[in-house]
Amino acid sequence: MKINENYRKLEESYLFSTIAHKVAAFQEKNPNKKVIRMGIGDVTLPLCPVVVTAMRDAAAEMGRKESFHGYGPEQGYPFLKEAVQHYYFSRNIQLNEHEIFISDGAKSDVGNILDILSTDNTVLVPNPVYPVYVDTNIMAGRKILYMDANRDNGFLPLPDEKVEADIIYLCSPNNPTGAVYNKEQLQQWVDYALSKKALILFDAAYEAFIKDSTLPRSIFELEGAKRCAIEFCSLSKTAGFTGTRCGYTVVPEALEFDGVKLNGLWLRRQTTKFNGVPYVIQRAAAAVFSEEGQRQVKENLQYYADNAKIMTDAMKGAGLWFTGGENSPYIWMQCPNGMGSWEFFDLLLNELNVVGTPGEGFGENGKGYFRLTAFGDRRDTIEAMDRLTGYLK
Ligand code: MLT
Repeated sequence: MKINENYRKLEESYLFSTIAHKVAAFQEKNPNKKVIRMGIGDVTLPLCPVVVTAMRDAAAEMGRKESFHGYGPEQGYPFLKEAVQHYYFSRNIQLNEHEIFISDGAKSDVGNILDILSTDNTVLVPNPVYPVYVDTNIMAGRKILYMDANRDNGFLPLPDEKVEADIIYLCSPNNPTGAVYNKEQLQQWVDYALSKKALILFDAAYEAFIKDSTLPRSIFELEGAKRCAIEFCSLSKTAGFTGTRCGYTVVPEALEFDGVKLNGLWLRRQTTKFNGVPYVIQRAAAAVFSEEGQRQVKENLQYYADNAKIMTDAMKGAGLWFTGGENSPYIWMQCPNGMGSWEFFDLLLNELNVVGTPGEGFGENGKGYFRLTAFGDRRDTIEAMDRLTGYLK
């Protein structure tokens, strides 16, 4: 028996686990210190009332013989796929129901989709990058190319014709930088992928945070995208499902490589390896897309947007350079006084008792940068900014 040797090439632990251990160690030594967490992008507001009601009703259905549900369709119940279809339609994107696959979240699908793609493919990712895109490809032994995201390009790298890649990861609004591609920039990526016969894996997990109506919330708003892109989306951040788990992946019918439709391959993979999201959770997810559900989740999104505004105002006041925050729950700031990102992490944790994520954890280009999230409690957010600006004075 041999292990998958590629696992030896991974960092020793997943970024957010490393941070959680550091914070736990600090808290153990300093039990009386109030630590404010702005590290991992985990939500703090509870599920919306309509979602809870739907979940409760569905649980009651499961407890009655006549309405009990056993195995469901692996790719999701029609009622939820129709709700997602309608959500896209309200943004002028037409999808067939069978192009939508319900999952337990974007992270799993972003990793699992690689099952249907050859390990011979070359992968292109931005640097800095959400570690899942890199780690899942290291696990499979794929060659990874990095493109520079930096202050000069606003952390929004554009295609370089000289680079030959087969699989391209894009995330907009971006995790970790909060930067958002406009339509013209995203169209350049679609055109590049079509010309190189490459596949874009588009992570739209943060689309609901876009307030500027000129910015694309789905790659399928762009001409030709259905022939070169798969889109991943999640209710984790949109509707507080980080612990509830539900997302969806759109694999267009028009997506064809080597004479094979990826939609069919993904269906084949899912029916073999996945038994679907629990009925109760799918009912809860469907409630998010109801008229009242949309109203309620938008209230929560506004709460986080207001947190982000408090944070960006504080950064502006302190003269710190940053991206994100306006159409994104992430704020990506340059560390003050030329500090390194782990150095700033230690300072924040030990002196100010605030947890953030060191930019370096997302790649070389994150050196000297730092990510904070707007998902916290309002009073904690204000307090954290007071501690930071007080320190920088
Ligand atoms: C993050 O903090 O980057 C996210 O919470 C990670 C995730 O969504 O998996």
